[in-house]
Amino acid sequence: MMEDLAMHTLEILMNSVHAGAKNIKLEITDSAAKDELLISVLDDGKGMDEETAKKASDPFYTSRTTRKIGMGLAFLRGLAETCGGEFSLSSEPGKGTLVTASVQRSNIDTPPLGDIGEMMMETIQADGDIDYELAYVTDNGRFGFSTKEAKEMLDGVSILEPGVLLWIKEYINEGIKQVKEDIV
Ligand SMILES: Nc1ncnc2c1ncn2[C@@H]1O[C@H](COP(=O)(O)OP(=O)(O)O)[C@@H](O)[C@H]1O
Ligand SMILES: [Mg+2]
Repeated sequence: MMEDLAMHTLEILMNSVHAGAKNIKLEITDSAAKDELLISVLDDGKGMDEETAKKASDPFYTSRTTRKIGMGLAFLRGLAETCGGEFSLSSEPGKGTLVTASVQRSNIDTPPLGDIGEMMMETIQADGDIDYELAYVTDNGRFGFSTKEAKEMLDGVSILEPGVLLWIKEYINEGIKQVKEDIV
């Protein structure tokens, strides 16, 4: 499967889900002027102590006893460093975690952004009670999506209804298209 930034971001969102987050903010800043694409994920999950945070982006560390594929943070950090960008992680136990990673848009190793609508649909599906705020910002403008607002509009209909999820995916991808510049 083609590796794209959306896939990496999904790994980071899943970490927030597993950390018991109730609110997750995802911001993607995609700037041609700065030749930079920056992804940040902020959650209000259980956070990490200093020791865990230090080890978390080390490819040989996981707090899981059984490892599936994982290594979300180590892969993202490696990707950022390979693609002329930066990675950072800050976390406070009981408060939450902020992960940011940037890549140089023009770098030959930088993968495509991928399908953000699909990625949001998948992460929402993992737990319909978690609320997400998504922002996609370019030099042209800003697109925002909030599950809280979507749930208000749904007026009792579950956000997990397949039709609703598909609508969210398309709404997000359409919104991104409106403000996106050419290619990554
Ligand atoms: N958002 C988060 N909140 C709390 N702990 C986290 C978060 N993200 C990662 N971690 C911690 O860092 C470890 C490494 O994460 P990751 O690189 O995704 O690998 P894995 O999820 O396979 O363990 C996790 O096992 C977890 O202990
Ligand atoms: Mg993980």
